[in-house]
Amino acid sequence: MFENFSLAPPDPILGLNAVFEKDPRPFKLNLTVGVFKDDQGRTPILESVRQAEAKIFQTQKTKGYLPIEGGKDFTDQVNRLILGEDFDFGRVATAHTPGGTGALRAAADTLLKVMPGRRFWVSNPTWANHNAVFQAAGFPVLSYAYLDAAKTGLDFDGLIRQLEQEGQPGDAVCLHACCHNPTGIDPTPAQWAVLSEVLAKKRMLPFIDFAYQGFGDGLEADAKPISILLKDHSELVICGSFSKNFGLYSERVGALLMISADSKITESVLSQMRVAIRCNYSNPPRHGEAIVATILSDPQLSKLWRSEVDAMRKRISEMRVGFIEGMKKRGKDFSFLASQKGMFSYTGLNAMQADWLKQEKGIYIVGTGRINVAGLTSDTLESVCDAVAQA
Ligand code: LMR
Repeated sequence: MFENFSLAPPDPILGLNAVFEKDPRPFKLNLTVGVFKDDQGRTPILESVRQAEAKIFQTQKTKGYLPIEGGKDFTDQVNRLILGEDFDFGRVATAHTPGGTGALRAAADTLLKVMPGRRFWVSNPTWANHNAVFQAAGFPVLSYAYLDAAKTGLDFDGLIRQLEQEGQPGDAVCLHACCHNPTGIDPTPAQWAVLSEVLAKKRMLPFIDFAYQGFGDGLEADAKPISILLKDHSELVICGSFSKNFGLYSERVGALLMISADSKITESVLSQMRVAIRCNYSNPPRHGEAIVATILSDPQLSKLWRSEVDAMRKRISEMRVGFIEGMKKRGKDFSFLASQKGMFSYTGLNAMQADWLKQEKGIYIVGTGRINVAGLTSDTLESVCDAVAQA
């Protein structure tokens, strides 16, 4: 029967990553997949993570199964990190999911039961996997305007117009809380407030992808759009990821938070989340969850971790500034990148230029022109600027 399988196209991000790994050329640089690199080009294990792991090694008593939604020590800490200390946590159903992608899929599977026939809206462009995940769960996926015609800023009027004209009550709208992937372009707080009102007026459900907390303006500042939305919305879905801010990419740690209008509903929501999770991956992996819970519950480790997040954010922003200046020296204006946030930037390079950079220079970027700014280093910056200017 298997001869009926045809060859599937490679993943636009992870597929390129695999090609990069096999590239034998000595000078090659990977600016594709969103992983943080230090100035030596390594993806480090954070010191707070190392210390938490040492503590876990000494104290962990079992590798028995966790509850379907993960341990309460983890979910309680995560609620506080994402929603702030003062939130009414009785309204929140939270589960540990394998990464942010696991949260997206568990959320979509859970929602499908209460909103069959409804639709998912994603930004145009969005993270390459959003469409696939929501479609695989069974939702029709539509896209709303995001990037302006010059491809350097937000088409906020187009975004609002489209959701106002075409949105239907009960549609879910996927929004990136900060560090929009792939463009790095975020709405301003004033724009978030308008967007929030429009969604509430249309009775559409905000569905927040929060994969880069701490990489925009800071851990608390990056959660601001959530508090803006909560002023107008009593129900919210949040998919968090700890791949980037804890550097726990391969440990697969994320969280799904579903906020209800009334704490009486929370147990029902959590029960439906459990059903969706149980028939998918059953229950979450322990190690990454233990690391996050250990760090967030220990004041000293928490302090260390916060300083490490700040340092990662600072390095990314230095590389962004360095790239803009390097391009300026070569007579190219990339100043629009300055207002972008997080790991990624849309450079405006097209697929042909991306391919040329790969073939001729060994520099890998995503075909849409997205670069992982966090993959640049002081040593590679000049040659990348030369190559991009030439492209
Ligand atoms: C990315 O966009 O590169 C990251 O979110 C990693 C991934 O899984 O695609």
